[in-house]
Amino acid sequence: MTAQIIDGKAVAEDVVEQVKAATADLVAKSGVKPGIAVVIVGEDPASQVYVRSKGRKATECGFHSVTHTMDASISQDHLLTLVNQLNADPAIHGILVQLPLPDHIDEGEVIQAIAPDKDVDGFHFINVGKLGTGQTDTAFVPCTPAGSMLLTKRALGRDDLSGLTAVVVGRSNIVGKPMANLLLAANATVTIAHSRTPDLPGLVATADIVVAAVGRPQMVRGDWIKPGACVIDVGINRIDAPEKGEGKTRLVGDVHFEECAQVAGSITPVPGGVGPMTIAMLMANTLTGACRAAGVEPPPL
Ligand code: GUN
Repeated sequence: MTAQIIDGKAVAEDVVEQVKAATADLVAKSGVKPGIAVVIVGEDPASQVYVRSKGRKATECGFHSVTHTMDASISQDHLLTLVNQLNADPAIHGILVQLPLPDHIDEGEVIQAIAPDKDVDGFHFINVGKLGTGQTDTAFVPCTPAGSMLLTKRALGRDDLSGLTAVVVGRSNIVGKPMANLLLAANATVTIAHSRTPDLPGLVATADIVVAAVGRPQMVRGDWIKPGACVIDVGINRIDAPEKGEGKTRLVGDVHFEECAQVAGSITPVPGGVGPMTIAMLMANTLTGACRAAGVEPPPL
């Protein structure tokens, strides 16, 4: 079997088109323009690239978009003051503080200071708790698992995953745990595996849906995969690529793509799979925040 390659770029573009249309509608009907504030501390080049692309995409969607670039030496109090100002600003519906933060900042305290109804990352305890208790109609769901879930549902052609087994490899707060909760909410039978799980290949081989989010390049091999399974690769790892020339590198996921694509029913590539979905879902979350503020039902994706 050769797997269907899941085109994350196309699905992300589809989400952004829907967000653009719903934004225009919201502005026309209620006068509320979705607003997003991104806060970046310090000069980490990778973070700067992410933050710039978030700002560009927000503008493309028709949002009010502000970026606060703070010096790496900013104090905890000063950063919390900024978060509180954004919490109180009616023009802002989504706040994202780019992680990681410098070592002298207490990341947890900053995240918990964000108003839960503006926490478009879905990292606040209130949103984590709502997702865990199935109250997704008022929660914000973290963007990467939300995007992974949309790709899974589109690939399988159904929203209800009753009767299917899912193995999530990785138990991070940002991806593994929320992904498991989303799969459970969709009625899949879910197992979370991690570095202490015995016989990981044997467990993965039982899964109709495999989600890999461990940060280990090409760890999931072709002979681990149940024929016809849906394989979602959340990993982004840069590895040496001597075949491209001396000193060259390439991006790979946590899944050995070439091997798994021979066995799976559908599979996300890296790049071009889950990656483009993250920013698209951030835009969708910000629109959702604005719709809630305006008392309007957010559009279904
Ligand atoms: N840094 C890398 N990914 C993320 C993310 O999804 N949200 C935030 N706030 N920071 C990040």
